[in-house]
Amino acid sequence: MISASTIKRNTLGATALVLLAVGLAHILPPHWLFLPVMLALGACLTSFRRVAEIVDRVRQEKCDLDEQLIQSQKLAAIGELSSGIAHEINNPLAVISQEAEWMTHLLGQPPLGDQPELLEVRDSVKQIEKQVDRCRTITHKLLNFARRMDPVYQVEDLSSLVADMSILVEREAANRDVSLIRDFPADLPGVCTDAPLLRQVILNLLTNALQAVGRGGFIRVTARQCDPGHVEIRVEDNGMGIPKENLTKIFNPFFTTKEPGQGTGLGLSMCHAIVDRLGGRIGVESTVGKGTVFTVTLPIQSAGRA
Ligand SMILES: Nc1ncnc2c1ncn2[C@@H]1O[C@H](COP(=O)(O)OP(=O)(O)OP(=O)(O)O)[C@@H](O)[C@H]1O
Ligand SMILES: [Mg+2]
Repeated sequence: MISASTIKRNTLGATALVLLAVGLAHILPPHWLFLPVMLALGACLTSFRRVAEIVDRVRQEKCDLDEQLIQSQKLAAIGELSSGIAHEINNPLAVISQEAEWMTHLLGQPPLGDQPELLEVRDSVKQIEKQVDRCRTITHKLLNFARRMDPVYQVEDLSSLVADMSILVEREAANRDVSLIRDFPADLPGVCTDAPLLRQVILNLLTNALQAVGRGGFIRVTARQCDPGHVEIRVEDNGMGIPKENLTKIFNPFFTTKEPGQGTGLGLSMCHAIVDRLGGRIGVESTVGKGTVFTVTLPIQSAGRA
């Protein structure tokens, strides 16, 4: 991140060089005057170039922050709307589920129980129960997504937190012949964060990565301190990648490219909302056919703590 002190340091450096040049101009004989002039010119040019670079970077950071803000506002609005709908749907779902259970019970009673044509009715009732379960999973995810997340901050060991989550997908990865690579430096500082929320983020990213890579692929999870105040967690895979036109949509609730019943499209929007809440940022880079990298940057000392 660019601070006022970076600009000040550059300007001070250039001023010091110009002053040195002026000093030299007083000491040196006239035919050596070109030396301080060149020195002063060089210092000014370098300083201008650096300031121009800094301005560009500041502009880029502002664009990123604006995008982040728009996404957060969008998610908050959708979250509120969808939690209302989820509440409304939950009640009729509960009634359908109870009725289906009652029907199953009745169908098992003699003399009905032995009639072969009732097998089809039983199958239909099972199907109703299965679909009700599916809807319930979606409404729960939605309610979870919209729930006000008030993080409870504690200093956490990031390496073990990320390692714990990767253990959860280890077996599935081994079944699919996917290598799970972990890389954490020993000197990673403790991070003041909400562990259960952060675990959800990492598990979602790992699950997505696992679903994206084919047999023999890899998932690499790394964590490092990226600047004095921040840590960065990267989840990288060499899976199918994300087409450019989808990169702007993947954090939207319900955006999914998975088969019906395979994904609700709420995983990444949940990750975005959580990371936002924790005062961090989530980013993605992807190349179709090569793979994807999700990066979560978090403050070491949370804004929620003094
Ligand atoms: N590592 C990845 N590689 C390729 N595509 C990805 C990756 N992670 C996410 N995606 C894309 O982003 C979409 C949205 O992901 P998200 O986690 O929000 O929902 P989902 O995985 O489809 O469903 P679920 O709600 O079960 O998580 C995915 O359907 C997929 O197209
Ligand atoms: Mg997902």
